[in-house]
Amino acid sequence: MNRDGWLEIAHIKETLHAHSKVVEKKEELIKEFISITKSQDYINNIKPYKEEVAKSCIRSSLRFSSEAMEFTKLLVGDILETKLEYSKYYVSPPYILFHLPNDKSEQGVIHTDRIKECQNSITVWTPINTFKNTYPPISIFPKSHSFLVSVCQKLAKKIFPNLKQEGVLKKIGIKRLDIYPGISSSYIWSSKLFHVGNLNLSENYHCALVIKITKKPLYHEPSLECKDLIQRINPKSIEFNLLDMYKNLSKHIESIEKMSLESLNIEEFISNVYDYRKLIDLGTRRALSFTLALVAGRYPDQPSSNYFDLASYMVEKEHIIALERHLRKCNDKKVVLRVFNKLSKFEKFNTYQEFTLFNKLKKRFKVDAINLRRSSSVHDW
Ligand SMILES: [Fe+2]
Repeated sequence: MNRDGWLEIAHIKETLHAHSKVVEKKEELIKEFISITKSQDYINNIKPYKEEVAKSCIRSSLRFSSEAMEFTKLLVGDILETKLEYSKYYVSPPYILFHLPNDKSEQGVIHTDRIKECQNSITVWTPINTFKNTYPPISIFPKSHSFLVSVCQKLAKKIFPNLKQEGVLKKIGIKRLDIYPGISSSYIWSSKLFHVGNLNLSENYHCALVIKITKKPLYHEPSLECKDLIQRINPKSIEFNLLDMYKNLSKHIESIEKMSLESLNIEEFISNVYDYRKLIDLGTRRALSFTLALVAGRYPDQPSSNYFDLASYMVEKEHIIALERHLRKCNDKKVVLRVFNKLSKFEKFNTYQEFTLFNKLKKRFKVDAINLRRSSSVHDW
């Protein structure tokens, strides 16, 4: 990492080839995505979140594809070659960003990727496209990761309390840098660096693959030690048929929505979802867990959103930030305890991720009745 807090690396050799395979896979999936949006199942669906479900089909298919897994492995290998200390760090599974033309729901706000529990970490962002960008999909704020800048920012915020984040940064001499990425390059930044994902102003379907390399495991996603990933002969992958996947995910989400409306209380809902889960295969459960979390995050005002967050965890532990979001919304600690007690009939909470999450919530809600055994076994991918 340079002093500006970010770096571009151009892919070479095997990584370059593996990247082109991911791009090919994405192009195939786009064709299938278009045929989903033209299908009768899609047209007849009246749910407001149907587009999010269709997008999540592409995102899950690409995320779990052998192409993305292989590319991630090689990319991590390349990064380790320049910085060996990362071999003991952890890496999250590839996370796919997928932006339709002018998709305002995907427009981001200025933020950092810092997660306190992960300690020192970096984000690796790679565009997965055949085209050269006509707009900057991301902008970064060079040097904004430094300690000096964070001190100056605090001062500037006191002097100009009404300024937004970009205005504060500007006041201390930090300007936005628009990134027009190379077709086969990755961009790495410190988790403390301010950046923003921009609106897709082009006619193209923009896609990027993101991984996080963290000193401590990422507690809300599966995590794997970098040195273990690069030694894997066949990284675990799942193949889906996109149209079947769309039909299946829609059906399961509607069933869970129905359960949320018909269950008499939260305990009954939890039992019903665990019963229902038995009917779904592992690959679909992983995609469903991810989709439930996305729909709940994107449509927080839907009556069932809070239940989707809880169901996301019960279906598979892909994205346990959803469970955190569910529990954070409980305004009564008795409800937190009821959810915890009911979940404990089905779960052992024996992963590092669950321990970290519940320990955090335990402190937040001051619930001593939550008994946890410290676990160092990391839920991997
Ligand atoms: Fe970010």
